[in-house]
Amino acid sequence: MKTSWITLILLSCLLQISRAQNKHIEKLQFPKGFLWGAASAAYQVEGGTKADGRGPNIWDKYLNPPYSLAKMATGQDVNGDIAINEYDRNQFLKDVKLMKDLGINTYRMSISWPRVLPEGTGKVNEAGIDYYNFVINTLIENGIKPLVTLYHFDMPLALANKGGWMNRECVNWFTDYANLCFDRFGDRVKTFLTFNEPSIEMFFLQTLFDAIDSKQMPSIPASEKYISEHFAHIHHLMLAHAQSVNLYHTKNLGGKIGITFNFMLCDLDSTASESGKTSLNLVRKVWNNLFMDPAFKGSYPKELFDRLKASQYGDIQAGDMDLIKSAKTDFLGINYYGVNMYHEKPGAGFFGLVNGKNPDKPEMFNGFVNPAAFVDGLVSLKKQYSNPEIIITENGAGYGEMDEKFENGKVNDVLRMAYIQKHIKAVNEAIRKGVNIKGYFVWSMFDNLEWIMGFSRRFGITYVDFKTQDRFPKQSYLWYQTFLKEQKK
Ligand code: NOJ
Repeated sequence: MKTSWITLILLSCLLQISRAQNKHIEKLQFPKGFLWGAASAAYQVEGGTKADGRGPNIWDKYLNPPYSLAKMATGQDVNGDIAINEYDRNQFLKDVKLMKDLGINTYRMSISWPRVLPEGTGKVNEAGIDYYNFVINTLIENGIKPLVTLYHFDMPLALANKGGWMNRECVNWFTDYANLCFDRFGDRVKTFLTFNEPSIEMFFLQTLFDAIDSKQMPSIPASEKYISEHFAHIHHLMLAHAQSVNLYHTKNLGGKIGITFNFMLCDLDSTASESGKTSLNLVRKVWNNLFMDPAFKGSYPKELFDRLKASQYGDIQAGDMDLIKSAKTDFLGINYYGVNMYHEKPGAGFFGLVNGKNPDKPEMFNGFVNPAAFVDGLVSLKKQYSNPEIIITENGAGYGEMDEKFENGKVNDVLRMAYIQKHIKAVNEAIRKGVNIKGYFVWSMFDNLEWIMGFSRRFGITYVDFKTQDRFPKQSYLWYQTFLKEQKK
């Protein structure tokens, strides 16, 4: 009798403890077959930049002397030569084990164009193809579907030297590269993305590279004048997207192809004048609709087309808009982090606005944390683009060192954990409001090379010791793992 009372008390204590631990883990309803994933990009994780015939890309140029951009930005002299070592197949096998243990059913990766085509065009590097076959097959063998981005900011240097996206030939260079990927990987990869965040590439990265090459002070984000004079970059990229989407569909590979954008929800950091509000609306359209409209409506937004003098600078030739219209992009990829704050500054080059104050404390790297704005934003995409299929291809947080304290093999990243939790709830709410969302990917599976910020900004749910390449699941990983387990019940 005595023992059974003790057992009962013990059991009820255990139940309470486990309830307390799972307090944050709520089972939410998501559509059947929902994609739960984590994301990465080739240059940020692979390393092996000179291995097995890979050609250089634009980052191999700008992160190395004489430019050493990461050193300029952060003081750390780093490049992607090792990154997080995933070109090493043994490392990749260990990493896939962590993915499998996490419980994700999909992984977003990208293919490095110059690893498979060292010069960007022409001769195929079979060693590069072998590497991606190994990666794709390993994922599939472990029950993880690969979602492949064809282009994640990493233009082959040989093509950049020929003008990159400003050169109309880039439309065919890209389509030929896409063709190669469809032929070699499309039997197993069922979800492709053509481009990652084209406006970030153009308004931040290309602007910066051009400023460096012409020894001028960069104006970031790009000035209205820059965007206008480089409208051909936008147009060539959208033509390449359309041509590759059509090509993919003619191959009947039984999969889907989309494009992914940085979803820029923008706001003003102070009480705005009427003209400030007008500028804000313009900036929202420039970030989002300038690229989304051609992909999902078949035309550029008229107001921006005129204002940016696209007919003068855009290299828009007969038949181009028909091609863009003919491409049926299967899904809209959305990368979302936070709301971007702007400050009104009459006369400022970026449509009268400059970067504003982020009201958050502590501040996150990519904007002001606002999951409610994310829900509204997703609902507005549903309305604007006739309820497209949407995949959240990136969502994550980088708060800086305070959230990354590595102690006894553990990182208690409470801020990231709370961030991911709130945003998964936001996705769920958007679904309940009728937005057709089919998947969610955390950025990122591992800490990695954050472009010009080098290794100074961690976004991973898995901690990486960049010297030893050891991996340690953070608290956010453990939370996501438990959440995914609950979803499967
Ligand atoms: C978006 C980019 O696609 C990715 O490469 C980057 O690391 C994250 N944002 C975090 O800034």
